[in-house]
Amino acid sequence: MIITIIGGGSTFTPGIVKSIALRKEELGVDEIRLFDLDKERQDKVAVVVKWILDEELKSGIKLTVTYDVEEAYTDADFIFAQMRVGKYALREQDEKIPLKHGCVGQETCGCGGLAYGLRTIFPMMEVIDYAEKYAKSSHWILNYSNPASIVSEACRVLRPKARIINICDMPIAIIDVVAAALEIKDKENIVYDYYGLNHFGWFTSIEYKGEDMMPKLRDYIMEHEILLPAAYLKDKAALAGKKTNRHTKGSWYYVWKGVYEIMANFPDTLPNTYLNYYLQQKEFVEHSDPTHTRANEVMESREKNLFDGIDEYLKTGEVKETVFYAGSHGDWIADLAIALKNDTKARFLVITENKGCIPNLPYDAMVEVPAYIGKNGPEVLTQDPVPLFQQGLIMQQLNSEKLIVQAAIEGSYQKALEAFTLSKTVPSMNVAKAVLDDMIEANKGYWPELK
Ligand code: NAD
Ligand code: G6P
Ligand code: MN
Repeated sequence: MIITIIGGGSTFTPGIVKSIALRKEELGVDEIRLFDLDKERQDKVAVVVKWILDEELKSGIKLTVTYDVEEAYTDADFIFAQMRVGKYALREQDEKIPLKHGCVGQETCGCGGLAYGLRTIFPMMEVIDYAEKYAKSSHWILNYSNPASIVSEACRVLRPKARIINICDMPIAIIDVVAAALEIKDKENIVYDYYGLNHFGWFTSIEYKGEDMMPKLRDYIMEHEILLPAAYLKDKAALAGKKTNRHTKGSWYYVWKGVYEIMANFPDTLPNTYLNYYLQQKEFVEHSDPTHTRANEVMESREKNLFDGIDEYLKTGEVKETVFYAGSHGDWIADLAIALKNDTKARFLVITENKGCIPNLPYDAMVEVPAYIGKNGPEVLTQDPVPLFQQGLIMQQLNSEKLIVQAAIEGSYQKALEAFTLSKTVPSMNVAKAVLDDMIEANKGYWPELK
């Protein structure tokens, strides 16, 4: 049983490997393979991965580190993808270029997300094609590579038969924070309903052991004027400390504050934190520093900690527990693989073709909804129609994302301009054009040519 990680040099690789190794028996895993285009980066990350497998967990799992696609994919059972096409250097541009024009600058939302999408669509198709060619015919690709919404739409259009499930860790990160805020220790007993697009959705119910937790949660958020656990709030220093959730650090703070601000106006549902970028565009731009964005924070924290930690290990043979991030992100993808492999029918949120699940959204929309996962993939639950407010927001976002996929396939400047103009984060077509033109320059060599 072989699991191949594409983007082996990712800051998340050690955490994912740890989650896999901790589930060795359920997964029946014998070998983990790392594949990346950046040899220097992956070789370094592999050092700590080897330490986790051999020394920390004494897992007995074989590690293969490769730069050869055939070696990476041959006979793989699972391919976990987490590539960042253009790496942090271009994430920085995705965030800074829109801000320069007074628009939200974000990794996966608005113009930044559209730009990242145009970079990622074709590399993702290559992953699918290599898996088809070399991996076991029963393989599954579990994809975290962002922007997952645009990537999943491209998969639907370009590779409709691909054995791929696109996923996101934000809803479970939100549930982690909800559990901590409401002092629920056994979060596995939380069941929730959710609908939307990736990074663009709403929780409609959150139940714990059969009890509706929404009223308590709403009271909590209104009282604290933020969705963060009281323990973090009491000790602000802990926000920067080692034990907190990574989503609570740096500029993520505004994101959790935004949950309160959104719910103060729209109290019926718990919004995905990403809705802040569409509902508080102006405020986001106001509190952003266009010279220092989340990409900089990540390079100065998660990336630096990991690579400094690896250098330290190579010198001293000691690894500190804070060097790499481990937790829900890796658990989620590893648990999904268990559900597929062992046909457990466990419930997960996945990004999948609507096919009538939400009756008043297009049949072919890639929606993020709960599904039961077994060996044949997701079995989705039918939902009620969504309210007009959310439907309107979703349609605008959905069509913007569909247009960027069409722009990539047709090499169409016109469609790209429509996608940028349609984004709710962009105030006018002229601004859309200015951002798009700057993005074309910044993404030379990564984007398909737009005519
Ligand atoms: P990172 O830059 O540390 O790692 C990404 C790795 O991908 C790099 O080592 C890079 O060399 C490699 N890469 C780039 N293009 C590649 C290609 N074509 N083939 C193989 N490898 C390639 O980034 P990170 O912050 O660790 O994030 C990794 C990815 O996971 C990003 O796409 C990020 O957006 C995504 N992510 C998604 C979720 C989610 O909810 N879906 C959650 C967290 C991270
Ligand atoms: C969440 C989202 C991911 C996103 C990540 C960014 O986990 O679900 O899609 O990539 O946040 O986190 P970062 O720490 O890199 O800003
Ligand atoms: Mn996500």
